[in-house]
Amino acid sequence: MPTGLMSNKSDFTRVTTDILIIGAGGAGLRAAIEANEMGIKTTIVSKSLLGKAHTVMAEGGIAASLGNVDKEDNWKVHFTDTYEEGVQLGNWRMVEFLAKEAADRVYELERYGALFDRTPEGKISQRAFGAHTYRRLCHVGDKTGLELIRTLQDKVAHTDVRIYDEFVISKIFATGGKVTGAMGFSMREGKFYVFNCKAVIIASGGVGRLFKVTSNSWESTGDGLAMAFRAGAAIMDMEMVQFHPTGMIWPPSVRGLLVTEGVRGDGGILLNNKGERFMLKYSPEKKELDARDVVARCNYKEIMEGRGTEHGGVYLDISHKGAKFIMEKLPSMYMQYKEFAGVDITKEKMEVAPTTHYHMGGIRVDPITNMTNVDGLFASGEAACGVHGANRLGGNSLIDLLVFGRRSGRSAAQFCSENSIHDVSDTEIEEEIARVTKFVERKDPVNPYPIMNRLRETMSARVGIIRNEKDLQVALDTITEIKQKIGNIGVSQGIKFNPGLIACLELENMIQNAELLVKGAIERKESRGAHTRSDFPGTRDEWHKNIVFTKAGDGIEMSYSPVEDPPEDFIVNVKKGR
Ligand code: FUM
Repeated sequence: MPTGLMSNKSDFTRVTTDILIIGAGGAGLRAAIEANEMGIKTTIVSKSLLGKAHTVMAEGGIAASLGNVDKEDNWKVHFTDTYEEGVQLGNWRMVEFLAKEAADRVYELERYGALFDRTPEGKISQRAFGAHTYRRLCHVGDKTGLELIRTLQDKVAHTDVRIYDEFVISKIFATGGKVTGAMGFSMREGKFYVFNCKAVIIASGGVGRLFKVTSNSWESTGDGLAMAFRAGAAIMDMEMVQFHPTGMIWPPSVRGLLVTEGVRGDGGILLNNKGERFMLKYSPEKKELDARDVVARCNYKEIMEGRGTEHGGVYLDISHKGAKFIMEKLPSMYMQYKEFAGVDITKEKMEVAPTTHYHMGGIRVDPITNMTNVDGLFASGEAACGVHGANRLGGNSLIDLLVFGRRSGRSAAQFCSENSIHDVSDTEIEEEIARVTKFVERKDPVNPYPIMNRLRETMSARVGIIRNEKDLQVALDTITEIKQKIGNIGVSQGIKFNPGLIACLELENMIQNAELLVKGAIERKESRGAHTRSDFPGTRDEWHKNIVFTKAGDGIEMSYSPVEDPPEDFIVNVKKGR
């Protein structure tokens, strides 16, 4: 079974593999399948238990222009929807790959064993989602992400891909602009491991846990992004954070939990406390199915102007569709509200409010190969940047995972066949072991959790849906202050199953990501997609460019990258410009 070669040293284990994939969500698993099929030794490490990755939280569907329900659909309409609703900030080549390869990836997933909902004629069923011109979301009730992970995991289980779960990678080694390996520790064993490899694929998801109110699961602290930055990779569009219009708001223990867009796709309507269907006023044509950034701002406005619900949200109502329909198409939503809030959505309205959901920004990759500017370092899925521009369409994340997971696995495998393995020196290893163990060895350590909470509160309060210079500057000052305080963080107990130790490592990553995110938000003096500045309304031509950060010594260098326009005939006239 195992493909790696292991040799014990005194305080760490060395594993040799061709590709190390960080993350066992959709992108990581799909990359592993591809690399394995190309005969390349592949190892996956996963922070959570296998099968628990954040991908399971993408509920309502996977976008592909199969044309099963609306036969007019095709890849160019999908391209146009994605590029234009990303407010022309996306990389058109990546959008082209996404739109063109989506159908193949969905049918392939079906061949791997995914059981999609069907139309009466037996085709894969497709539902409506916000700002998709046609009904395009292939789905499995409201558990599409779960089915995707289940299927890919089953496929990987039948290969010799080696998997380390409940495992934290703390460092990616790069020398002279080339990846040489990575290291981390097994939470279960409390043991350090060093991975010697030719290529690393970062597929570790986004940064949603930087915010207090989020739909993201615990792993989404942007560890991969922070490690890539420290290894020399360029990071782009950090300011572009998606706020999903509908998260749970009550009770407080589940605040932020996703309420799938599938509810609105299947006919759910938004109401304020006066019973008004307010989207008729803001977006008479698309109504509840306008783009996420638009609907999130409308919900926010209703709440801020005093037309919100008892707990500070708006109402979402699907009860008119009847119990049979709801139990068939939205069973998780039924359970979620019944068990957590004591609300029966077949009869009662839900209370919802915007929640931090997705990071369009991330690691800059070559659009063809998914390799970063560091040789041998690849990224895909939410950790990577480029496809979604300033606003992602619902369902485009799951297809992104399959399309670019596969592409990154292919490119990394190709890279491995042309390159030899490098060595990680004992000094580098010892330094990293010392860096990690210091968190559990400090006398009178400072508790990381209150600092983490302060960071999250600041991000949610100052870097939210509507931003302005003053708030952003307060956020940056707070981050600078926090940064100076974390020199003495630490926890008791050892390496084994110690969530406090993981929090220390995460906190360092989160602070670095927050700093880049806020700097990007201050820099972008316009409103584009999810980045809304009350002091700079509207898009501005001079900001039709990406903001790029790279590490320069101990500092940060900022630059701009122009956005290339797509070929004219790729944009079909269903919608142009926003
Ligand atoms: O609303 C949802 O079901 C989320 C899907 C997505 O973010 O793609």
